[in-house]
This record gives sequence, C-alpha cells and structure tokens, in this order.
Amino acid sequence: MAKRPAGNPLDLRAWLDTARGLGELKDVPGADAKLELGAISEMNVKIDGAPALLFDEIKGYPKGFRVVTCTTASPARLSSLLRMPVERSHRGLVQALRGKPRGWQAEAPKYEPVVAETGPVLENIRSGQGVDINIFPSPLWHEKDGGPYIGTGCCVVTKDYDSDWVNVGTYRVMVHDKNHVGLDMIPGKHGAIQYDKHMKAGKPFPVAIVIGCDPLGYLISGIEVPFGMCEYNYIGAILGEPVQVVHGELTGLPIPAAAEIVLEGYCYPGDVKIEGPFGEFHGYYPGKEGTAPVMTVERIYHRNDPIIVGSPPAKPPNDYSYSKAVMRSALLFDALLAAGVPDVASVWAHEIGGARMFNVVAIRQRYAGHARQAALILNQCGVGAYMSRYTVVVDEDIDPSNLQEVMWAVATRSDPEVDIDIIRHGMGSKNDPMFVAYRSDAPYNSKAIIDACRPYDHLHDFPAVAEASKELQAQVREKWRHLLKL
Ligand SMILES: Cc1cc2nc3c(=O)[nH]c(=O)nc-3n(C[C@H](O)[C@H](O)[C@H](O)COP(=O)(O)O)c2cc1C
Repeated sequence: MAKRPAGNPLDLRAWLDTARGLGELKDVPGADAKLELGAISEMNVKIDGAPALLFDEIKGYPKGFRVVTCTTASPARLSSLLRMPVERSHRGLVQALRGKPRGWQAEAPKYEPVVAETGPVLENIRSGQGVDINIFPSPLWHEKDGGPYIGTGCCVVTKDYDSDWVNVGTYRVMVHDKNHVGLDMIPGKHGAIQYDKHMKAGKPFPVAIVIGCDPLGYLISGIEVPFGMCEYNYIGAILGEPVQVVHGELTGLPIPAAAEIVLEGYCYPGDVKIEGPFGEFHGYYPGKEGTAPVMTVERIYHRNDPIIVGSPPAKPPNDYSYSKAVMRSALLFDALLAAGVPDVASVWAHEIGGARMFNVVAIRQRYAGHARQAALILNQCGVGAYMSRYTVVVDEDIDPSNLQEVMWAVATRSDPEVDIDIIRHGMGSKNDPMFVAYRSDAPYNSKAIIDACRPYDHLHDFPAVAEASKELQAQVREKWRHLLKL
C-alpha cells in the first residue's frame, strides 16, 4: 500500500508554544473585544521588541475563546514562522531571506496538500440553526469600523469556476449577522477573479474561511503568490512537507486539519451589501463606502476553545506592516532579478507606505538607463504594481531601508526636471485615501519614479561624499568605543 506522505496540519497551538519558548508571547486576560483588543494591539506593536498577545477571558465570552494578535511583528516570530533559524535582528532576517521566495516558488509544485482522515478542526461542527458566528469574540478593531471583523489574519479558500485551481487569499471578513459575513476582495485579486467567473455563470461561489491557523497561513495567503498557484503548495515548500487538509462537508474545499475556526458556505449571485468602513493598512478609512459580496455561512467547524488570529491594519507601523515589508521586499528583489535587471543591491518596501506605496531599490549602476529600468520594473511588476505610488532608485552606497539616507539621496542626487517620471492610469485602488480626489471613478492612480542615483554620465566627476571613509570609521570606532558608545 502506498504510504501517505507526512503532512503539517498548520497548528496554531504548536506555534504558540514555540513563540512562548522564545519569550515572544504574552497572555492578556480580561480585555473587551469592542475596541480594547484593537487599541491594545495597535499600541503594543509600536513598542520596540513587543510580543504577540494572546487575549483570553474576553468580556462577555467563555474562557478559552481567544484572540491572538501581533503574531508576525518581530524578526524572531517571523523567522520561526518561516521555519528558518531564529533571527533576532532585522538585518539578519533580511539577509537570511534573500533568494528564499524564488526557491519556495520553484519547489511549490512538489508539495500538493495531503488529505487527512480527520483533524482537530472537526471537533465541533455546527449546521442549520446551530450556525451562529456571534459565539466567537469578533473584535470591533477601530472606532469608525462598520462592524466587528472576524476575519483579518484569515485565509479565504476558494476554487476556480473552470479549472481545479484552489486559491487561498487573505481578505477581510465583516460580521453582518449570525450567519452572514461580508467578503472584501479587491478587483484583480485572485479570489475576486474566481468570484466574478461564478457570478457571470450565475452560480453560487463556494467559500471556506479559515479564521485561525498557524500564522504562516495568512503570512503567505496575504502576499502575491503567482496567479494559478495554490498557496498551500507554496506553504508546503516553506515547511518542506505538504500541508495536511480535510475537506469541507458542504463545498469540498480543503481546510487545514488543525484550523481553529472555519466558516463554510456560499456567496449567492446578486447578494452584496454595504461593507466597512474599516481602518486600512495605509492608515486611513477608505474614501468611499462600498459594497462587497455576502457569504451565507452554512457550516461552522471549530476546535474546542478556539483562537481567532487577528491582524488589524491601522496607521503604520501596524500589526502586519513589518512582515509585509520584509516579505514584499524579498519578492520585489526576486521580481527584479527575474525581469533581468542586473546588479540589484537591495530593495525595501517601506512600512510607512504599507509596504506598497513607497518602495526603494539600490543598484550598482552599470549602464545608462539602468536606474530607470530598475525603477519602472519595481513599480510595475506583478508584486509591485497594485497601489504603488512612489518608487525611488538609489546608488548602492545608500541603504534603501534607511529613510534618512534615501531622502538625502533624493535631495542631493536628483534633478526634478529630468529625474521624476510620472506614470498615468496605473493600478490603484478605491481604498486609496487619495481616491476621493481622483478625477475618475475607475481606480487608476498615478505613480512617480524618482531617480536619485548619481547621473550615470557624471559618475566620474560627481562630487565626493563628505563623510569619514569606512576604514577611518573602523579605526576610530575601535579606539574611541567608550566615547562613541558603540
Ligand atoms: C491582514 C491582511 C488583510 C488583508 N485584507 C485584504 C482585503 O480585505 N481585501 C483584499 O483584496 N486584500 C487584502 N489583503 C491583501 C491580500 O491578502 C493580498 O493582496 C494577497 O496577495 C491576496 O491574495 P491573492 O493574490 O491570492 O488574491 C490583506 C492582507 C493582509 C495581510
């Protein structure tokens, strides 16, 4: 008999033990799901070295019905989630991650998920009148939110209409009532493409929403995995073993065997409702209220004492801006290499722009036009186009993650007349705070490229930088360590 390959059930509790062992998890009893969880998490994540927070004894809910936040917000937590040696420093993590996404993507096809006979997620199954989302402590994260959001650090599992492609994306999930949620999938996102195909065919759209599992799940379902690839495969490549799933009774969609809570059901044609507003990753409530598909929840599966994984966005730095900056910077680096841009020293997608709106690439200039090529591709590649606004290209002596250095280069190495290019009618979003001021109802935006490299034709006579040389700095650092507090 063929041996079933080993599988990882994406068990949140196993990872919480790891995080606790690393000193990266704190218990918080007695908070209120209405605004307190959100504000505590938002303020926690702004403190250097802050831990993940595990909320229990949430006001009005049974002990054991928990919410965990800030799971991806430190180098140690992020590296442990990515199954890498634990990195305590940001620089160490970025270096260790270089080239990894390319490898994971290449390996992904080898890691088809495996089906388990059962799993902890099936400990409780609710259907019919037993379906009531309100038993879970869905947080009202921000004061102006349109309702409680059960899904932030979640994985939305869907299937294509005319192929076998299963997609897993992170899209926010708002509670409408005991058996209806709103699903906000921005046009162009893979879940939205699959939804549109079902609606065009007049067919219900099957959905399974994983409300909590190992945070590696939402870390990967929340980044741009290539079109047509299943995120479970990508996660399998990171784990080095396939993801273990069970099939939803109703839709047959695959869900991690150790998921905490899963909502299963359908979005029916024509069923849409006002959704939001919701405090967004760029730090604003979106300009205009919008409608979103409604999912009718027909089954709930949950573990005993289930844990919601929450990842509330807000003005950056927020719950997931650090992990997005790290992950998207690595993906953008790979995208530049894949597009044939040589001598890329480093890339950084800044948290201030929600890892989308202010991105910087450092290059070793090799030829005239190299800088514009790098900037344009960074701005327009698959991972980078959505909501990109400012793209800056700098020489390799500038650290792209250091805003002080980047803006020094902009101030001193660019000539606005020739070094700023504008791309019109780019890929924007109705959730862009600037959308209110745009002249079109379609979500276009304009994008600026700032070439802050020394002019290529003046590399030989560009003024030298007035700063102690690396060698002199090293000597002085050694001799004057006590004075310079190094
Ligand atoms: C916590 C979190 C919340 C997110 N919320 C949304 C959302 O509500 N709608 C959306 O379209 N994208 C949202 N995103 C971004 C998408 O998850 C991301 O673009 C991802 O690539 C989408 O998956 P897809 O490429 O398979 O469509 C969110 C990401 C994170 C990490």
